[in-house]
Amino acid sequence: MILGTGRAVPKRVLTNFDLEKMVETTDEWIRERTGIERRYIADESDTTSALCAAAGRAALEAAQLPAEKLDAIIIGTVTGDVTFPSTACYVQEMLGAGNAAAFDIAAACTGFIYGLSLADGLIAAGKAQHVLVIGGELLTRITDWTDRATCVLFGDAAGAAVIGPSDGKRGIVDTFIKSDGRLTHLLCMPGGGTKIPPDVALAERLMFLKMEGREVFKHAVTAMGDAAEHLLAKNNLTGDDIHLLIPHQANMRIINATARRVGMPLEKVYVNVQNYGNTSAASIPLALNEALENGRLKSGDRCLLVAFGGGFTWGSAIVQF
Ligand code: ACO
Repeated sequence: MILGTGRAVPKRVLTNFDLEKMVETTDEWIRERTGIERRYIADESDTTSALCAAAGRAALEAAQLPAEKLDAIIIGTVTGDVTFPSTACYVQEMLGAGNAAAFDIAAACTGFIYGLSLADGLIAAGKAQHVLVIGGELLTRITDWTDRATCVLFGDAAGAAVIGPSDGKRGIVDTFIKSDGRLTHLLCMPGGGTKIPPDVALAERLMFLKMEGREVFKHAVTAMGDAAEHLLAKNNLTGDDIHLLIPHQANMRIINATARRVGMPLEKVYVNVQNYGNTSAASIPLALNEALENGRLKSGDRCLLVAFGGGFTWGSAIVQF
């Protein structure tokens, strides 16, 4: 079950009007096509690990769990501090979680759902008691600020949840994760790995996120709908049995389409994309933390999480609070 959640964002806010001064775009275009109005962006001193540690610390406080009790720290991120070691190792040190295994998962925007699924499995198998799952990204560090088709979409944030064994009533009911490696090229950062030499990657501007927006959009709509529908059907549930749907916050049109697929009215859908933009793996735990804080999600509620991201990866989770 989810014992506590937390979130952290950088201080600086970048509005659509700020972007109007940077690339050929308008506030109206961005709002109509995406629903985004503003996003938080890191300054030079921010790091993914520090943001993740802040969110993790808040989640541990909410769970009233000392960091030494953690058996694992799993971070969903594609914008870690360095290629290796895992950002989770830096976070382990920052939190003083001396007994935890620590590793990252590169499932892009589905990173938190992948982490949740893995944490649930570790706990169910008796391999862990308490797992801290974090989704954290500084996507604006790999954003090409000359590409108006992508630079208006992303923001920086971290969200975290402490997972522990179910108490019989509350818990992670089920999770579903999937991927399709035939579509890696539609959303990726080509440079930065071992395939392309660093000097070539720099010269050819391959150190930035590249996306075929329209193709990603089509797949995201289908996959998020499929993931939500599949998990509901598998658990003999429908949209009527869900109190709150928390979809990955990438684009208002994708959120609307996902809600329609599972027959849920927008009143039962959590939306904060207007304030954060697409924060990739951070988006779901961030929304989850806000929803618990502002009372949209209460004890006894059943929640459906669904995400889609680069890979492609996608997944869903049903959580009973
Ligand atoms: N401002 C103004 N015009 C723009 C901008 C902009 N910022 N960006 C693109 N345009 C123009 C294009 O050049 C194009 O012009 P043209 O018709 O003259 O060629 C026109 O707007 C339409 O462009 P499209 O790309 O077809 O616009 P679309 O309606 O598909 O919206 C968007 C683009 C918002 C990117 C959409 O495709 C989308 O949301 N895709 C999914 C993105 C997503 O969710 N990605 C995250 C996955 S998660 C992860 O793993 C990081």
